[in-house]
Amino acid sequence: MFAPQTISTSSKSGFYDELAGQLSALLADETDAVANAANTSALIFEMMPDLNWAGFYFLNTPDELVVGPFQGKPACVRIAVGRGVCGTAVERGRSIIVEDVHAFPGHIACDAASRSELVVPLIKDGSVFGVLDLDSPTVARFDADDQAGVERLAAIFVAASSLED
Ligand code: SME
Repeated sequence: MFAPQTISTSSKSGFYDELAGQLSALLADETDAVANAANTSALIFEMMPDLNWAGFYFLNTPDELVVGPFQGKPACVRIAVGRGVCGTAVERGRSIIVEDVHAFPGHIACDAASRSELVVPLIKDGSVFGVLDLDSPTVARFDADDQAGVERLAAIFVAASSLED
């Protein structure tokens, strides 16, 4: 059985080093993308402080994201590419940090408690196929170190998971 280990480090890079190691171990023997997305969101939600939502959206057509495995309150199911923080991250093919969701035009509020957000696109062979979305009840919860750390976690998920139909 995999048991998440408490991470006691004062530096963010040390924190993400350890979390990346735990995620690699958690996904090591499994390639099912839904199973791996479920366990990735559970580990992140368990280990990262100050989150109220952590999970996945996947493109089911080139124009639309559909919610995947997540932890937190029930969420908006479908998001058009180009809409909200998630759809904008897909369109740009780059991560987005929103320090204050009330100041992001078009932000889609799934949980009224969310105040800041980090969305990382999932990229395989140069194509975006979804996003990893983290929400926090704290304004400016995410910085560039969090972005780098969560991009690393997303890459571990992509590498471990079989994404063929
Ligand atoms: N806030 C997101 C929608 C997804 S929820 O946060 C879970 C957005 O604007 O795309």
